[in-house]
Amino acid sequence: MAVRDMVIFPDDRLRVKTTEVTKFDEKLEALVSDMFETMYFYEGIGLAAPQIGISKRLVVIDVADTDEQGNVLMRHPMTLVNPEIVEKYGEVESQEGCLSVPEIYEVVHRAERIKIKYYDVHGEEHIEEAEGLLAICMQHELDHLEGHLFIDYLGTFQRERIKKRLIKFKKEHLKQ
Ligand code: NI
Repeated sequence: MAVRDMVIFPDDRLRVKTTEVTKFDEKLEALVSDMFETMYFYEGIGLAAPQIGISKRLVVIDVADTDEQGNVLMRHPMTLVNPEIVEKYGEVESQEGCLSVPEIYEVVHRAERIKIKYYDVHGEEHIEEAEGLLAICMQHELDHLEGHLFIDYLGTFQRERIKKRLIKFKKEHLKQ
């Protein structure tokens, strides 16, 4: 297992429409465990494959139960392979951040409840309904698979401002 490098906006790898996973093998399992390790290392609740430079329809999520101090009481790790939202219900405002867009938090609109179809790491199909933070997280991560980011819902001016700020952030924090 290994923590992978995070792809930070702006980066073309975050803008690619991903392709379906076709092989449910040990290589997929190894990639998924790297994704979990990377997500936990950066303290995220979701991570999509393009965020580590892999252009596949693959997401890991863990919206854990926490106490008031934010300590984890119980984890709920989920692997979503080739996920698809089949229904959306209602609308809700959500304040979001993204491991690929560090230090930026903005309010966007999401469906309140969704029905989602996906495969687990063993190739088993699941259809589930989700609401609350889990539903928001799923919508955010699935956007990544289309090359979309939560800041795309903001105005052009605001997005350009974020872009400039992150170009500066990358110069200061990363040797790229
Ligand atoms: Ni994200």
